[in-house]
Amino acid sequence: MKDPIRHRILETRWPTAEHAARSILFSPIEIGRLTIENRTWVPAMVPWRATGDGLVTKNILEWYGRFAAGRPGVIVVEATGIRDVPSGPLLRIGHDRFIPGLRELASTVRRESGGRTRVFIQIIDFLAVKRRPEKDKYFDCFFVVGQSHRERLKEATGDETWLSAADGSVREFLRAAPDSLLDSLLDEREIESLRFGYRERVTDVDLAHVRDLPNVLPGVFASAAARAREAGFDGVELHYAHAYTMAGFLSALNDRADGYGGPRENRVRLPLEVYRAVREKVGGDYVVGVRFLGDEVIEGGSRIEDAMYFGVEFARAGFDYLSISKGGKFEDASQPKVGHAVYPYTGRSGYECMPTVWSDARGPFGRNVPLAAAIRREINLAGFSQPVVASGGISTFEQAESILEKGEADIIGSARQSLADPDWFLKTSLGRGAEVRRCEFTNYCEGLDQMHKEVTCKLWDRLPRDVQGVAMSSDTRRRLVAPPWNNKDSAAAVADSPVEK
Ligand SMILES: Cc1cc2nc3c(=O)[nH]c(=O)nc-3n(C[C@H](O)[C@H](O)[C@H](O)COP(=O)(O)O)c2cc1C
Ligand code: SF4
Repeated sequence: MKDPIRHRILETRWPTAEHAARSILFSPIEIGRLTIENRTWVPAMVPWRATGDGLVTKNILEWYGRFAAGRPGVIVVEATGIRDVPSGPLLRIGHDRFIPGLRELASTVRRESGGRTRVFIQIIDFLAVKRRPEKDKYFDCFFVVGQSHRERLKEATGDETWLSAADGSVREFLRAAPDSLLDSLLDEREIESLRFGYRERVTDVDLAHVRDLPNVLPGVFASAAARAREAGFDGVELHYAHAYTMAGFLSALNDRADGYGGPRENRVRLPLEVYRAVREKVGGDYVVGVRFLGDEVIEGGSRIEDAMYFGVEFARAGFDYLSISKGGKFEDASQPKVGHAVYPYTGRSGYECMPTVWSDARGPFGRNVPLAAAIRREINLAGFSQPVVASGGISTFEQAESILEKGEADIIGSARQSLADPDWFLKTSLGRGAEVRRCEFTNYCEGLDQMHKEVTCKLWDRLPRDVQGVAMSSDTRRRLVAPPWNNKDSAAAVADSPVEK
């Protein structure tokens, strides 16, 4: 019997070129003062190709150049760190020395798309997340012995001498203690640090740098956004989604008592202050968008009602577009192996962020669309009309067009489908949809992301690789960019179509 989900992946009707030309998907849209040629969009995807110092590499240029060759309306460059601190092979924008490489990136997208694709960059702040330690190392190096531990030890063992025991004796006992006993001796955060690795939260106001985030972040985001403009990006996207600092402020779990936590109005305060600082720095004519969650999908987290409220406040403040994502949180992530860091896409919330075919009967398709639709409705009711981007399991023309026809979103984001086949927009617009290499939504790519390995698609390597000049991953086993679409007819059609700039 046919698997119903797989069946849906394989079967769809593609438009003729004439039908595509009349579609909403391939019609232009305004974002702020920019005209976007069509409503196709590649959302941010970290490919793990920057240098260890966060600089743009040849592989980054080829990655984005390849997406640009498929001519989506917009490419959003991956989450790029706004601070000038080491963060592994993630792109960075926290200092002027990053500008030349980023400038080359923006101009590569322009060149490879023939000037048709607009390029934005997503900017992000994140807090410390440490790898899960060895048990011995945790108790020797990270664990802080307190009087409360001595008291719990006394209670658990009935031995009064624990009350005055030396730190070393407490550590030694805990190192050898079974997990069940540790559960009663350590507090919740200590258990988490031991079993998952230490992780900061925006509510850790006992830490000066966390307490100070509201003073620091507006300026750091604003400087990063100014660099994005200087580097030639068409816009900047503030990353307020998933497991990172700004999403932490928006979260219903944020109970800071300094006016930046608790009720929604307080939780949205810093995100709005950051926006205003950015806007002031980049000017009114520059695109500033936001990505945030329609639902955190964690216990006690923000729900769609919170997101609708945030959406209206973001629209009122003047964001030029709202891109809606879902989940992707640390709170429900699986336990990492020793030596690995917790990955926010492994629990239920992670599943909802990048849904796969291994799920309920609905499969991965369009699972976030109702969230985008509710937020769009709410901002429209409040009298605002900024475009809303929906993404999450959207991989066919039929799906995309129906979402737009129903007014559920204004723009269609496709991350993994664009990874599987960066030419899918072009093929669709040319009436060649049958040639689209369809994403199978089994998350091989996401597995690579989790291991911080160069992200590639498993489908690329099913094609022959005996072509000269094919760039390979550092493990030498995988193509680093999608295979070319060798089609003369399409090249002629692209060359003939009018370019509007
Ligand atoms: C490898 C990979 C890296 C990603 N990196 C980012 C990122 O940097 N910022 C972000 O907002 N979302 C990121 N995402 C999430 C995607 O933008 C998108 O929301 C998600 O994959 C669901 O859309 P899709 O079903 O079209 O893939 C990433 C997804 C993948 C697969
Ligand atoms: S690796 Fe799998 S889920 Fe990722 S883009 Fe390719 S087909 Fe889609």
